[in-house]
Amino acid sequence: MPPKLYIKTFGCQMNEYDSGKMADVLRAGAGMEQTDNPEEADVILFNTCSIREKAEEKVFSDLGRVRPLKAANPDLLIGVGGCVASQEGALILQRAPYVDVVFGPQTLHRLPQLLQACRDTGRPQVDISFPEIEKFDHLPAPVLGHLRPSTMLRGALSKDEGPQAATGTASVSIMEGCSKYCTYCVVPYTRGEEVSRPFVDVMRDVQELVGQGVKEVMLLGQNVNAYCGATEDGDTVDFAFLLQAVAALEGIDRLRYTTSHPMEMTQNLIDVYASTPKLVSHLHLPVQSGSDRILAAMKRRHTVLEYKSIIRRIRAVRPDICVTSDFIVGFPGETEQDFEATMKLIDEVGFDNSFSYLYSTRPGTPAAEMRDDTPHEVKAARLKRLQDRIMEQEEGVAQAMLGTVQRVLVEGFSKKNAQELAGRTDNNRVVNFPGTPGMIGRFAEVKITQVVRHTLRGELVSEPA
Ligand code: SAH
Ligand code: SF4
Ligand code: F3S
Repeated sequence: MPPKLYIKTFGCQMNEYDSGKMADVLRAGAGMEQTDNPEEADVILFNTCSIREKAEEKVFSDLGRVRPLKAANPDLLIGVGGCVASQEGALILQRAPYVDVVFGPQTLHRLPQLLQACRDTGRPQVDISFPEIEKFDHLPAPVLGHLRPSTMLRGALSKDEGPQAATGTASVSIMEGCSKYCTYCVVPYTRGEEVSRPFVDVMRDVQELVGQGVKEVMLLGQNVNAYCGATEDGDTVDFAFLLQAVAALEGIDRLRYTTSHPMEMTQNLIDVYASTPKLVSHLHLPVQSGSDRILAAMKRRHTVLEYKSIIRRIRAVRPDICVTSDFIVGFPGETEQDFEATMKLIDEVGFDNSFSYLYSTRPGTPAAEMRDDTPHEVKAARLKRLQDRIMEQEEGVAQAMLGTVQRVLVEGFSKKNAQELAGRTDNNRVVNFPGTPGMIGRFAEVKITQVVRHTLRGELVSEPA
């Protein structure tokens, strides 16, 4: 029997993607097979997130829960990867001495060796270095069946009624890390500076997936629009170029990306919305706050007016685009007036489904030193108001879709009702509808017949050959 691997993933799509790669390297390098049951695992990996304090604490409580499994199986190895590992390194072993391997997002390709070294020496192994883009040169080629995609992979929006497992669509990482150093954020420290994968490598991965039947790709990275990929003749290409090149590939019908930064939203990129219909009418463009004072304190490097100008120019060429965002409520020094400015921006732009959280102090970041005297109850009340308003806008978008016919990529069976299919619209909404399994992985025309809060139901109009 092949040894069994259990992976628990926290955090963003980058981590979801990396978990797929961990499974790939351990299959290729150690003959391991994935399991959904930690009790039968020979190796348990936690791919962790430290974006907010709560996410980090969850890792340690979940680790404590698998600890007893070691008593039952003395050969079991426990590994911690991802952003908490990157930030804490060997300190993890102090808090959880039963952990065997600590590895970072950039060293996951060394997992077979790290696990082996641990077995050979009986000592814990720690490798959280940043050997730049080396990882990609040591990963097996993308294999669709091995991706085990989840709804998390489908953009920032994971709280909807996605399919149980997505088919016909896959993600390709195009760059790693972040060099923006927003004052509240750990990502530049946990993932390192921005490094883009070479242009031909990205194209090869996409082509490989097309060969396996993929019709839609999601280009992934912490700031995809900062992409600057080397070409074989020593030149570099930008994100706008990459998007057009991928869209030009035969077999690719739909193109998504996440996540992007307003300061990298060039006119070139905006023009792609006019020239490239395969690029979906959904844009996740985090704004965080609607107050210039707070944006400056966050070091976002753009103003509210600049953000609105980007949206206005994109809507000029794509009137139907759905914009989603991330918001941080209660940043140090946020006044009632600052918060009202955020509410005003939300009303002016009109967002769909967005992510909003209370500010969480992250040790080692500049914002951790800022004076934060707003009481928690005040912050929580602001968050509630913001979320209620966004929810209204979300429902408005859904209501506007009622009665329309949408082209959906049928990704699998509905999570809620296994008798039904789940498809994703251009604007990243999941629609559940009755259909046959043969439609999975293909496009279909679906009429939206029902909106329950922001969840859509529909019926098949036609199924393209
Ligand atoms: N690179 C992306 C976002 C990546 S992190 C961008 O800049 O747009 C995802 C989201 O987590 C951020 O957009 C932000 O809203 C949130 N976040 C990051 N650090 C946070 C913190 N310390 N407290 C609360 N939310 C945070
Ligand atoms: Fe974090 Fe800012 Fe980088 Fe986004 S751009 S990952 S919020 S530092
Ligand atoms: Fe979390 Fe790291 Fe992603 S901190 S959000 S897993 S980049």
